[in-house]
Amino acid sequence: MNELYKLVKYHAGLYYDKDSPEISDAEYDSLVRELKQLENDYPQYAQNDSPTQTVGGEASSLFAKVEHITPMLSLDNVFTPEELVNFFDRINAEGFVCEMKIDGLAVSLIYEDGVFIRGATRGNGRVGEDVTENLMLVDSVPKRLINAPKGRVEVRGEVLMTNERFNAVNDMRESKGEKLFANPRNAAAGTLRQSAKNNHVIAERGLDIFLYYLVDAERFGITTQEGALMWLESHGLPVQSAYKFCETLGGVKDFIYHWQNERYTLNYHTDGVVVKLNDLTQWHEIGATSHAPRWAVAYKYPPEEAKTQLINIEISIGRTGVLTPVAILEPVRLAGTQVSRATLHNADEIARKDIRLGDVVRVRKAAEIIPEIVGVDDSSRIKGLKRIMTPFTMPGKCPACDSEIVRIADEAAYRCPNRASCPAQLSESLKYFASRDGMNIKGIGRKLAEKLTASGKIHILSDIYTLTAEDWMTLDKISTKSANNLLAELESSKSRPFVNLITALGIPDTGKNTAGLIISHFGNIDALMNATEEELSRIDGVGEVIARSVHEFFRNDNNRKMIESFRAMGFNMGGEIVRVSNELEGKIFVFTGTLSSMTRDEAGGVVKSLGGRVSSSVSKKTDYVVAGESPGSKLTKAESLGIMILTEQEFLRMTEGLLH
Ligand code: IVH
Repeated sequence: MNELYKLVKYHAGLYYDKDSPEISDAEYDSLVRELKQLENDYPQYAQNDSPTQTVGGEASSLFAKVEHITPMLSLDNVFTPEELVNFFDRINAEGFVCEMKIDGLAVSLIYEDGVFIRGATRGNGRVGEDVTENLMLVDSVPKRLINAPKGRVEVRGEVLMTNERFNAVNDMRESKGEKLFANPRNAAAGTLRQSAKNNHVIAERGLDIFLYYLVDAERFGITTQEGALMWLESHGLPVQSAYKFCETLGGVKDFIYHWQNERYTLNYHTDGVVVKLNDLTQWHEIGATSHAPRWAVAYKYPPEEAKTQLINIEISIGRTGVLTPVAILEPVRLAGTQVSRATLHNADEIARKDIRLGDVVRVRKAAEIIPEIVGVDDSSRIKGLKRIMTPFTMPGKCPACDSEIVRIADEAAYRCPNRASCPAQLSESLKYFASRDGMNIKGIGRKLAEKLTASGKIHILSDIYTLTAEDWMTLDKISTKSANNLLAELESSKSRPFVNLITALGIPDTGKNTAGLIISHFGNIDALMNATEEELSRIDGVGEVIARSVHEFFRNDNNRKMIESFRAMGFNMGGEIVRVSNELEGKIFVFTGTLSSMTRDEAGGVVKSLGGRVSSSVSKKTDYVVAGESPGSKLTKAESLGIMILTEQEFLRMTEGLLH
């Protein structure tokens, strides 16, 4: 149970707070179900703060907090017709409204005399985030109601991204080398919960809303859920079209079965049906738990699986040379799209599931958009018949460059070791190099990266800076204007911060955060290139594996040559900072807020190059707190402890004085 507590909390945090889940909704639901069952069977071990007792996530500090006077509850889920029958038996009433369960993010909207005045997310159900400004940018949120009702009205519903917008947004992200949204819900949540600085993206991406709940509907003389939905519509609030009144259990089941396949014709994503008692007076009689009403239930559709034949296994080669087997399938319809490729993860997985060419396999959508192979469909195999195909083995040679494949003893992965010139790795590396965490070069996505390597004009990453406008025009069949834009884009990328360059190099195991840690320690490229593995591994948060990768990377002659060409082209090499003196020996600095002239990591590098230390929290031992724009609670704490506070200007003057 302890393990499940931790797992569920971890995944709930990724889902609700970070809008970036690692497992599918169905897998998450099954963890929660297992935990609930255990809590039922062993109530003596159930904890008060169990994740089964809470709703949603925590309100983010990006937004002001809003208290929901009427709590925003969640819904209990059922997964099988039997569980649905149990629900009906418990409440023993008739007359239901069935609605689609919209896969978005719950919000509350408040209107005063018909004017939209405030919008909030659900947060933990009692306290949500004030997202009024952001909802103002959602076209389908009416800013004024038709037939303005007097006084205060609160309505609730779901903000969503339509499938069409979702695909367009992901296509755009792919072309810019940005991380794709796993599903429309994450895209909607990630879009709505933008800080004011970035909220222009809300209008660009195009969110939508459907309302399904009128708080205190009785005040308007309404006695049924159906009546409430009609009231919402009549005042101009968008309501989903699929809802239906169903008198009996039979009708509810028909609705559920009908929409199981039909739901893919809707232009938004749904993973179930919400069944609500229609009669509002019964809502009050039946009541709610702290977590969910008893007068409604969500019927969740099982994750959709399809069977199809495995035609081939292709090998895709990643940026760091790792070989990933990809299943090529007889095309099959799955969750509304045609699927012809699916990941097989790695060779061990294939062996464990004993998947062979020609097998009929079960395919499922995992994190909603990337399909995976669940296993072989045993029922389609003829009993006792020996399978003709031999088990799959990884190729001995790289399909892209013919190098001997290696399997490193302590990892599961097979790799092509030819980092310098394997075209498949180069194309992946280029895509990463140009991505947002890297050199952030707009216009170089997957397609162009492939064309670049296929053209033979690129041998190492730095070569993209040597191409002329004509080169780009012949390569990508683009106009002179677009080619010049691309050249301008490349030129301006040269002045990106040092941390972007180190990230862009694509050193194995080294993303932007790690790159930040490393450069704030060494300060500049020369110190970094000459660092020993030992020195690297002593940095907080780095460890042996990363230290080895970084060290190996800079031992390679081709890589060192590439760094020299970046230097010659005027890239940011963090060179301003040289480990010069011990003036700040023993002094502890804490940074809070945003600095305008450099990142906090870079400022930390300055402190370290002068012998000082950087800490992430304020204590009595802190010597200086440097406060940038919108400083956090660290500033208040420093004030209360009487610690010396520096503005960014003061910090710069102080350290510049010491550097020269
Ligand atoms: S009614 C008090 N109706 O599902 C009951 N919820 O898993 C309020 N949802 O928190 C919810 N579609 O965010 C309701 N047609 C629908 C819905 C719906 C999606 C969401 C809602 C809720 C969550 C529970």
